[in-house]
Amino acid sequence: MTNNNEKTGNTIGFHDTSDSDSNTNHTNQMLLRLKKRVQRLELLQQVSHELGSERDLNRLLDLILNRTNQVLDADRSTLYLIDDPSDAGPHLVSKIAQGMDGIRLPLDRTSIAGTAAMSGEICNVEDPYHDERFNAEVDQTSGYRTKSMLASPMTSPDGTVVGVVQVLNKLDGGPFDAEDEQLLLAFSTMAAIAVENARWLEAQKQTFEDLITGQAIAIDARDHVTGGHTWRVTAYAVEIGRTMGWSEQDLEILRYAGLLHDQGKLGISDDILLKPGRLSNWEFALMRSHAYKTKVILEGVKHLFPRRLRRAVDLAPAHHEKLDGSGYPDHLTADDIPMGARILAVADIFDALTAHRPYRSPMPDQDVIGLLRKDAEAGKLDSVPIEALASCMDRIVTIRDEINARIKARKRTFQVVQGVLP
Ligand SMILES: [Fe+2]
Repeated sequence: MTNNNEKTGNTIGFHDTSDSDSNTNHTNQMLLRLKKRVQRLELLQQVSHELGSERDLNRLLDLILNRTNQVLDADRSTLYLIDDPSDAGPHLVSKIAQGMDGIRLPLDRTSIAGTAAMSGEICNVEDPYHDERFNAEVDQTSGYRTKSMLASPMTSPDGTVVGVVQVLNKLDGGPFDAEDEQLLLAFSTMAAIAVENARWLEAQKQTFEDLITGQAIAIDARDHVTGGHTWRVTAYAVEIGRTMGWSEQDLEILRYAGLLHDQGKLGISDDILLKPGRLSNWEFALMRSHAYKTKVILEGVKHLFPRRLRRAVDLAPAHHEKLDGSGYPDHLTADDIPMGARILAVADIFDALTAHRPYRSPMPDQDVIGLLRKDAEAGKLDSVPIEALASCMDRIVTIRDEINARIKARKRTFQVVQGVLP
């Protein structure tokens, strides 16, 4: 029996089956599109959140590329950064290139990625093989077939283009649309901010490192008699800490404390610091004041230390403290002397007695270990770092030889420069 609506084509009262199917399909498509948009927004929000918590640049960029593929339904992505080596001029260098080896492109309009970087605008190429800027050699080398391409500049908030994100091949086989363009631009901006932040953090880290090592060089340069003491004590302390199973972060704190431990010697006059013979009681007291001076100097610049490294400021001046309270500058006792300072104390004494001096021969390593153990038995030093030192002597000897060879070479360079040596 035929429905009246079918005869009359009435679509107001009752829908026929085909109209109903068509409407259902239309609604489903709308829902799918809406779902996709919500999914994209969620991913965008997720990446934005991940951006704030991931500090490693490579992991972050890798994450952004994976999410870009996911959200754009793309097969592959490449992330280029602008590299400016002084000899070859600016280039686009692939930081992460999925499925390909490193790619290097000149920063000009001869490539699609280069055009995006130069113009600061997104490039949507529906058929790359008919675009003269497309380099098919990359496909030939990798065995890949590029069918569609979207390249977006990575523009930082101050307007500087730092690189390009390029996505290849929409998974449904079609071209990338306007919505894809908007989304990739958003992702590229996030990547640009991530790069800028990571570079800024790296520059901060390097500045701090240069500042501290500069101080260590200045201390060592003051005192040619104990040349290399700062570097050896630092390296010994780190090796002892490593043997004791310390984390890399704690070793980093210990390293900075080592580099700064004798900072206060900058405030000791040459007459005392460089005196070859025995010091009088008064001179010895002045010499000992270097630990207090280290404390005062470091307290004054503590705010310049990144928070995670500030403990170095407490460790460095305490390297002459003794567990029984007989040390200096604060006569701290066991409960108040952190393990980092106890390690530095052992490393400091070990170097002082095993290093060459113009007025005496270096004491054999094992004899010094014996003296340190006696100090531990007397309740002055901690036996844990002493035993750690004793158990890694092979490595300590290698470290000492390396540092001494470096210092000898540097001294010779200075002497040649100053005309002391031919
Ligand atoms: Fe010292």
